[in-house]
Amino acid sequence: MNFGIIGYGAIGDVHAQVIAGLEDAKLVAVASRTPEKAEKVREKYGCDFYTDYRDLLRRSDIDIVSICTPAILHLQMALDAAAAGKHCIVEKPIEINTMRAEEMIEAFQKKGLKLCVIFQHRFDPASIALKRLLYETRFGKLNYGTAKTIWFRDEAYYRASIWRGAWNGDGGGALMNQAVHSIDLLQYFMGPVQAVCGKCDTLYHLEIETEDIGLALLRFENGALGVIEGTTLAYPGRNTEVSIYGQKGSAGIRNHTLEHYCLKDGKDAALEALLAQSGKKTSNRASFIRQYQDMIAAVKENRPPLVTGEEGMKSVQIINAIYESSAKNAWIDLRNKDD
Ligand SMILES: NC(=O)c1ccc[n+]([C@@H]2O[C@H](COP(=O)([O-])OP(=O)(O)OC[C@H]3O[C@@H](n4cnc5c(N)ncnc54)[C@H](O)[C@@H]3O)[C@@H](O)[C@H]2O)c1
Repeated sequence: MNFGIIGYGAIGDVHAQVIAGLEDAKLVAVASRTPEKAEKVREKYGCDFYTDYRDLLRRSDIDIVSICTPAILHLQMALDAAAAGKHCIVEKPIEINTMRAEEMIEAFQKKGLKLCVIFQHRFDPASIALKRLLYETRFGKLNYGTAKTIWFRDEAYYRASIWRGAWNGDGGGALMNQAVHSIDLLQYFMGPVQAVCGKCDTLYHLEIETEDIGLALLRFENGALGVIEGTTLAYPGRNTEVSIYGQKGSAGIRNHTLEHYCLKDGKDAALEALLAQSGKKTSNRASFIRQYQDMIAAVKENRPPLVTGEEGMKSVQIINAIYESSAKNAWIDLRNKDD
């Protein structure tokens, strides 16, 4: 598979490294606004460079395009990519709201092209193992789930890119940019969210428009309750955690590594093996590689990737509802939403 990358910033280079390391993939071209990056890209990856992404899309030798630009740019770039007949990998969040995400999804459906959204933590060994146990209903009826992203970002972080902390750039703040990974995992494990009640505020980073803290209570469709905490004001930054509690067991992932689990019906060999390595940090790169391999296989086998556009939109739906709940001081029911 031949790849093109649009947007060569912080995460664009990670994508380039991942593609360069895959046996059945080749990075053919990168497009980014800054011409000064051309030399570095050519030297590092031996591929072409464009300042106008439409030049990259015109190339007939590119099969899959990875969009690594700010969220507000994802829709137009993805629409142009679909029009050019390219499959797409879009960075999280899929877009700044569900309306724009739906437009993107529809364009790929119409063209019969594959669309996947980067949520590499679904491919962490701990996430894969927990999902299997959930399929096997080993935790029993789920009653409670939590997703916590207790991080710190300094002023320099927000100053570095104008879209960060801007409604019309990232579509949100600590929830939409940082906590979106754990919110995605929470709904992946617990099932669809029925309703949310949230409160968001900007308490530390007074220079940004969006929230630097967002909290929410959730009711899942299966009757379980949940809690979301997402913040970038927790100096100096702590950790990220996703926990699930069921009738027959519980488990918790901290910093993408299995921290604990307990099953009433006994031990699970795969989880035991993960616990034995719990001192080791989970490799973000390895999870990216697994998601790329899944997308390549999806294109080759003509099946949906694990994180389709619809899957990638679910976290945005939950976060948008939390923003609405915070603004209206009310519970928001996701089932009756028509936006
Ligand atoms: N999966 C992850 O763990 C992860 C981590 C970081 C960022 N992200 C996501 O990746 C996306 C990009 O984030 P980032 O931190 O790399 O941002 P960044 O600001 O560092 O980089 C964005 C890049 O896009 C380029 N760009 C902007 N407009 C362009 C245009 N019209 N044509 C071509 N290039 C253009 C910019 O020049 C820049 O190089 C965001 O959606 C972000 O949420 C995901």
